Amino acid sequence: MKRKWDSSDERYFGIGIYRPKTVENVGSLWRTAYVLGASFVFLIDAKYKKKSSDVLKVWARIPLFQFETIEAFIQTVPYSCQLIGVEMDDSATPIQDFFHPDRAIYLLGSENNGLPKSLKSKCQELVILPGEPSLNVAAAGSIVVYDRILKKVNRSLLIQ
Ligand SMILES: C[S@@+](CC[C@H](N)C(=O)[O-])C[C@H]1O[C@@H](n2cnc3c(N)ncnc32)[C@H](O)[C@@H]1O
Repeated sequence: MKRKWDSSDERYFGIGIYRPKTVENVGSLWRTAYVLGASFVFLIDAKYKKKSSDVLKVWARIPLFQFETIEAFIQTVPYSCQLIGVEMDDSATPIQDFFHPDRAIYLLGSENNGLPKSLKSKCQELVILPGEPSLNVAAAGSIVVYDRILKKVNRSLLIQ
């Protein structure tokens, strides 16, 4: 059967943090994720309560899923969706050369220690942003999402 929809309809992404330390970073990433088109956000091993200062009420717009353990999170990764670790790692692909999968979950590490090996090993690919020292975790997530948007938009324009 011939497909009757655009391939851009077959894309989505989510983004989240492993063991975030501050509610401010979670709130900031959540807002960026909503504004830039994420389908969901998530936290692993965190205790997060929404802040009353959230003027956009992002909690009412895209869901925040909370997983108690890495195992519980991994079990929920959907079919045909790639897990992309965002980390300063020797094996990571520089963002300039990175091709974003249509369906992706971006995973950021904790402010203190980054992503543990056990989580990095579950990722299909790791991606690294330029510059040193490390960026703020919410800023790193925002840049990755912005890069995704730019590349996906350009690709759609090229295909048309
Ligand atoms: C503040 S950093 C963690 C730094 C931590 N002290 C370490 O050495 O691993 C928090 C998270 O932001 C993201 N991040 C920050 N800068 C990055 C960069 N240049 N490339 C990729 N991810 C980055 C990663 O997800 C990282 O785990």
